[in-house]
Amino acid sequence: MSPAAHAAARALLADPLTNKGTAFTETERDTLGLHGLLPPHVGTLDSQIERRQRALARMPDDFHRYSFLRELQDSNEILFHAMVQRDLPAMLPLVYTPTVGEGCERFSEIWRRPRGLFLSWPNRQRIAEILGDPALDRVKVIVVSDGERILGLGDQGAGGMGIPIGKLALYTACAGIHPSEVLPILLDVGTDNEARRDDPLYVGWRHPRIRGAEYDAFVEDFVTAVADRFPGVLLQWEDFAGHNAYKLLDRYRHRLLSFNDDIQGTAATAVGTLLSAISRTGLALKDQRVVLFGAGAAGCGIADMLVQALQAEGLSEAQARQRIWAVDRDGLILSDMSDLSNGQRSYARDAAETDHWVRTSQGPIDLFDTVANVHPTVLIGASGQHGAFSEAVARTMAQATERPVIFPLSNPVSRAEAHPADLARWSAGRALIGTGSPFGISGVTQVNNIYIFPGVGLGALAAGAGRITDTMFMAAARTLGAMGGDDTLLPPIERLRDVALDIAVVVAAQAVADGVAASDVAIDRDAIAAQMWVPTY
Ligand code: NAI
Repeated sequence: MSPAAHAAARALLADPLTNKGTAFTETERDTLGLHGLLPPHVGTLDSQIERRQRALARMPDDFHRYSFLRELQDSNEILFHAMVQRDLPAMLPLVYTPTVGEGCERFSEIWRRPRGLFLSWPNRQRIAEILGDPALDRVKVIVVSDGERILGLGDQGAGGMGIPIGKLALYTACAGIHPSEVLPILLDVGTDNEARRDDPLYVGWRHPRIRGAEYDAFVEDFVTAVADRFPGVLLQWEDFAGHNAYKLLDRYRHRLLSFNDDIQGTAATAVGTLLSAISRTGLALKDQRVVLFGAGAAGCGIADMLVQALQAEGLSEAQARQRIWAVDRDGLILSDMSDLSNGQRSYARDAAETDHWVRTSQGPIDLFDTVANVHPTVLIGASGQHGAFSEAVARTMAQATERPVIFPLSNPVSRAEAHPADLARWSAGRALIGTGSPFGISGVTQVNNIYIFPGVGLGALAAGAGRITDTMFMAAARTLGAMGGDDTLLPPIERLRDVALDIAVVVAAQAVADGVAASDVAIDRDAIAAQMWVPTY
């Protein structure tokens, strides 16, 4: 063998997109010069999965399993994805929430091999050069984060890269986007997390966050370079802090195919689940009274989409907003409050409304007093405040409502507003419960964006869409809301690929109806299904 052939053989094994490990056949070993580099046994995908599953079962905890799977992904992607796809219920919590939270916090500790791109502030002049890598020629979907608001865990700096990596693994698992077509990106503009900066192992740029005009210019350079390099690419924003999340979404959603999953994906998932829940309560959407706890990016996104859904039932925008009471860190959001975000201001209630409320405390109106006076039928938490849905709150709500709909959405588990088992007990089993993280309790639905974003992305790409409209998300939400099972509000995790396909079809059709699809596109379910990659050798 020539030196070049030896090098090519090693390169083949080192590249996770081409490496098959022991599953290279004798013929492949002959022609590719792999003898000696592999043990003599010729395995199969099945036997490799069996070996890895045994190893996984012996690990002491989920964090070790997460780390093991990340390494597998970086050494053999087909095997990694085959494992994930064959057992989505067991694997999703390991490759994504809740375990990915610790994966981000301890990212530097388990750093092994490069995956995706780190675009750091000191390298800001090199963005186009970095994106120019020919290995990225096939990229169709980018998930980007700046690591500032990772799940409910705050600023994780470069460790936030765990989120784009995890989300894109789910794109492949659920929407069948080929691993060579996805690109995780972390915009490293520093971190204000001092523990990370002081950690000698921290792999990110050790600097307080760049903010203001400099930050905006950096993101602008990034988006411009992405649009130039990857025309038609889908750019998904993940885990940006609220102030940037809205701003960047507003700025870029009309310039390229782009959406913010924390805002729009969460909204569509929550509204879809809500539609499923209220179809069991017998009370029409327009008659629901909704209390939202935590009016940040996710909370306001849910509220905005609810308003859209209510308007579709014939309410005016003002009437629709009147169905929602938003409580944030300073209590019920009222019109006389200063310091409200734009998203929050549109939900501010007239302060006079509360003049005659029976109150248990002075000062800002807290969640309990809001619930006691509003008698909500729906309570949604997106605050990151562990235990905020107290026994008193839940019992008070359940006293006034036959089938309370309660969604403690905050992730990870340690941030959930309530434990679903407690909510079930406090409501005497009458509550319809949806949680952000998986609790493994039967009858409790996991309101996970995984139900929406893969299908929206797949549908938008299939339609050759240039933009993602609100109505495309609404179509996704309605489709999801109609897919629930007998005892859960959403379909089981095993069916996520079917869910993604169903949603992709309606999203693509909506893109055509909204005039944002490619001119010559014909939406064909079988054709979309045929595009979905299945991991086999
Ligand atoms: P965010 O930081 O934009 O919003 C959090 C909001 O909660 C802020 O407005 C903040 O002021 C408010 N808040 C903080 N302390 C509070 C208190 N004591 N009482 C009332 N409000 C308080 O963050 P984002 O993106 O909205 O995420 C919030 C939570 O929702 C996170 O835990 C996240 O993991 C979860 N989430 C869940 C999703 C799902 O289940 N599908 C999807 C996206 C987010």
